[in-house]
Amino acid sequence: MDARRAAILEAMGIDRFVARAPLVEPLSSPSASVQSTGPVVAPATPSGVDDLDVASLDWDALAGQVATCTRCALAAGRSQSVFGGGDRAARWMIVGEGPGAEEDRAGEPFLGSAGQLLDSMLQAIGLRRPQVYMANILKCRAPGNRDPHPAEARCCMPFLQRQIELVDPGLILCLGRIAAHSLLGVETPLGQLRGRVHELKPLGRKVVVTYHPGYLLRTPGEKRKVWADLQLAMETARGQRA
Ligand code: URA
Repeated sequence: MDARRAAILEAMGIDRFVARAPLVEPLSSPSASVQSTGPVVAPATPSGVDDLDVASLDWDALAGQVATCTRCALAAGRSQSVFGGGDRAARWMIVGEGPGAEEDRAGEPFLGSAGQLLDSMLQAIGLRRPQVYMANILKCRAPGNRDPHPAEARCCMPFLQRQIELVDPGLILCLGRIAAHSLLGVETPLGQLRGRVHELKPLGRKVVVTYHPGYLLRTPGEKRKVWADLQLAMETARGQRA
């Protein structure tokens, strides 16, 4: 491990030995450990909520729809929607939960302390923010940063699905329980979603789940597990494209 990476891991609060001895079970090859988790959109969808057809939209048209979206009540409370940002041809896509107050003001994802920790996590695996694409399940801030209601997440899902199609990433790193449940269409506890590679159907993308940086700020003891998740993500991303 070089000195720079060691310093970044130290800043994340990760003991160096963890890189050599991850706490999760030993990993098989990504292809062998892929688990199919079914369709992206949860089957129990109220009629009319997820039927938005954005499949043919390009980036500008999609961003325009998100900017003017009024599909759910969150539109009324936003300063602006937060579409996503970064490299639109990235190999890595990061999926979070939704904008907070800072993101709502600035219109950019992952600002503030959670965003800084996410930057450190990415740096630890040799990535910088402009090299990935970041988006959220929700494009509008939920009041008081409460958890999104399932119907709100479903309203937003066609936008995220189209972003995934357009980016065409080799690996999606999904941050936290809310994002994982919405994206994968499951209700499995986060601890059981970690440590394996999920396949997102029908888009056919590989997804690795880890803790949300906001949760890590409150529970720094879990950072070591995140380092193991990042290693799985790197291994998976390497297997996707030469
Ligand atoms: N900011 C985001 O954009 N997403 C999150 O999930 C948290 C903070």
